[in-house]
Amino acid sequence: MIKAVRGTRDLLPPDTALWNFVEAAVRDVFRAYNFQEIRTPIFEETALFSRSVGEETDIVSKEMYTWEDRGRAASEKGQSLTLRPEATAGIVRAYIEHKLWDRGLNKLYCIGPMFRRERPQKGRYRQFYQIDAEIIGPASAGSDSPARDAEVLEMLATLLNRLGITDWNLELNSVGCANDRARFNEALRQALKPVVGKMCADCQRRAVTNPLRVFDCKVPEDQPIIEKLPRISQFLDEPCRAHFEAVQEILKSVGVEFQINDRLVRGLDYYTRTAFEFTHGALGAQNAILGGGRYDGLSESLGGPAAPGIGFAIGEDRLVMSLKETAEGVLRKPDVYVAPLGAGMNGEAARLARELRQHDLVVELGDETFRLKKSFEAATKAGAKYILIVGENEVKAGAFALKNLATAEQVQVARGDLAHRIQEK
Ligand code: HAM
Repeated sequence: MIKAVRGTRDLLPPDTALWNFVEAAVRDVFRAYNFQEIRTPIFEETALFSRSVGEETDIVSKEMYTWEDRGRAASEKGQSLTLRPEATAGIVRAYIEHKLWDRGLNKLYCIGPMFRRERPQKGRYRQFYQIDAEIIGPASAGSDSPARDAEVLEMLATLLNRLGITDWNLELNSVGCANDRARFNEALRQALKPVVGKMCADCQRRAVTNPLRVFDCKVPEDQPIIEKLPRISQFLDEPCRAHFEAVQEILKSVGVEFQINDRLVRGLDYYTRTAFEFTHGALGAQNAILGGGRYDGLSESLGGPAAPGIGFAIGEDRLVMSLKETAEGVLRKPDVYVAPLGAGMNGEAARLARELRQHDLVVELGDETFRLKKSFEAATKAGAKYILIVGENEVKAGAFALKNLATAEQVQVARGDLAHRIQEK
């Protein structure tokens, strides 16, 4: 038997109702903040990710699904392509390619699958889904303002609360600008020199190529060493410090709680200034429900104009997991099971089902070959509230037996009153 590939999975009903519930709430909340949807391709040129996310990151160095394309045109032969591991790079590419700055400040969001060859475990998949949102535009449109950072964070708090997820924790940091990071990286290099020999092979390499990435290390033995390294907070210049202060001030005035975590550097290289994660207690080891931050130099590094930006990606798989306990009400079962009784009744039953569905009822339809007992069993299995019997006598009389499956109460209802009667309770 062929099974789904390791790290991928089928999303089955009734869970898919939760996914739709989440996505409907997301679209609703994002609309109130004037975000609009963008859909970018699922694969891109590999260079897009190595130049933005960064060569030394775990994502680019170990986790991407990359292949050499067999393209037909000579120019395509041997082109290196990659399944998108995240959405920001593709959105910024599209921003540049379509000169989206002509439309002013752009607030864009995208929902879809991402791919990373990680070791699968609870909450970690190789095909997973992100709900990604970005604010990007020229600084003249205010895209570098701390007001944007705070707006994005407040929107996230609103969304999570709206979904009934209250047990979240916002961790906030500033990773400074390129200058701050150059000084920080130098300080890290110095601090690592005497100790790096005791660290894992990855850290030994990172210490030379991109010392900041040492903070991504998960090896338990390395943690006491990492704990003693300098923190980026000690290297912020005055404008970065003021920006970070301003973000915090606005968050306080809108009542969004946060905790400063000066170890938070995020696993992607494009971040500048504000970086954040929302964690959720119930998720276990993979407790980051979403992450994001500012990326003021990203557009330039991809050959575009200066376009400061900030955004985030929610791990939709994890969001749905943290929602499960509270989401019983989302799963809509059939309101009524329409049971044709006897030969020639399928047509009448279909007509009735059609009328009821036009009243926004969820209707499950049986078959005339079913005996009454089998219809009742099928209605119960489907979780229907009512069963409606459609036999020759009922059709002639224009009134139908409607039975509440929970209370066993049965009433005769005239055709015209059926929808109203079913909706009532
Ligand atoms: P990220 O932290 O790599 O950021 O991913 C964001 C979220 O995606 C994580 O917090 C997690 O919930 C989810 N996620 C990541 N990998 C997996 C996985 N293997 N299985 C399940 N869920 C996963 C980014 O991707 C940035 N592009 C976010 C961003 C947007 N920054 C600015 N704009």
